Amino acid sequence: MKIFQNKTELSSYLDALKKMGLSIGLVPTMGALHQGHLTLVNEALEKNDKVVVSVFVNPTQFDNKEDLKKYPRTLEADVTLLKTVSKDSIVVYAPTVGDVYGDDVASQSFSFEGLEHEMEGAFRQGHFDGVGTIVKRLLENVKPDHAYFGEKDFQQLQIVKKLVALQNMPVEIVGCKIHRAKDGLAMSSRNARLTPEHRKAATFIYKILKTAKKKFGTKSAKNITEWVQEQFQLHPLLELEYFIIADTETLKPLKRKSTHKTYRAFIAVYAGDIRLIDNIAFN
Ligand code: PAJ
Repeated sequence: MKIFQNKTELSSYLDALKKMGLSIGLVPTMGALHQGHLTLVNEALEKNDKVVVSVFVNPTQFDNKEDLKKYPRTLEADVTLLKTVSKDSIVVYAPTVGDVYGDDVASQSFSFEGLEHEMEGAFRQGHFDGVGTIVKRLLENVKPDHAYFGEKDFQQLQIVKKLVALQNMPVEIVGCKIHRAKDGLAMSSRNARLTPEHRKAATFIYKILKTAKKKFGTKSAKNITEWVQEQFQLHPLLELEYFIIADTETLKPLKRKSTHKTYRAFIAVYAGDIRLIDNIAFN
């Protein structure tokens, strides 16, 4: 399996493939790969001749220095896992911070027509400027035909679609369903840092989302939100940061239901010092 640490070498390798008429898929990740990431990789392999999996813990999207420091970095295990999927059709791009940012480790500032102010944008200062900066650079360096993002980070997926539309980038953004552990917890690289007690408790998050979805047929958004808040107040191990039912397109909180629109519930929860997010389609 080819592993590139340098964007110039990666580009010249990919240029040769493109000249041969091969299609390229890109799966951006921060590593510590799990089955959720592999869902994206497998979908990319179905539609593209070569799939570039980038593994880069992007410093500019972290609002919390401790979270950045503790983020798992497991490149060797990541490569081993990817080899189980395909040895020939995957290449890894694992750049250094210098290769991506040079001496200036800073975000570009973006406007995503308001999508960036909701939820994760409101609770994580500068997060989506960091995500926009890295995704734009990866798309420019790889120039893929298709790029794959998970609905696990639904707001990020919508923002990347907006980024590509606003910047007229010639790539199709493909959204992939959330991959869950058997007990329902959405897979995440951060799950590995949960204590066994918190890992067990974290299954509560998806259970609440599913019950909230059931209630959506008959109850108001306000009523459901208050019910969710109550459930977490009673929980001894989990702390709710937000639960928001929002319009799927604008990501604005739902005030009055419209039959023409679709809605999703979004949640962020602390299990100890680990922050977990999840979401569910309501209709
Ligand atoms: P990371 O958290 O590593 O996730 C990489 C991609 O995998 C994202 O598109 C994410 O939504 C998807 N993903 C993670 N867990 C998933 C799951 N359980 N089911 C389906 N998809 C899942 O998201 C990032 O990295 C970064 O912000 C990045 C886009 C790489 C920019 O730095």
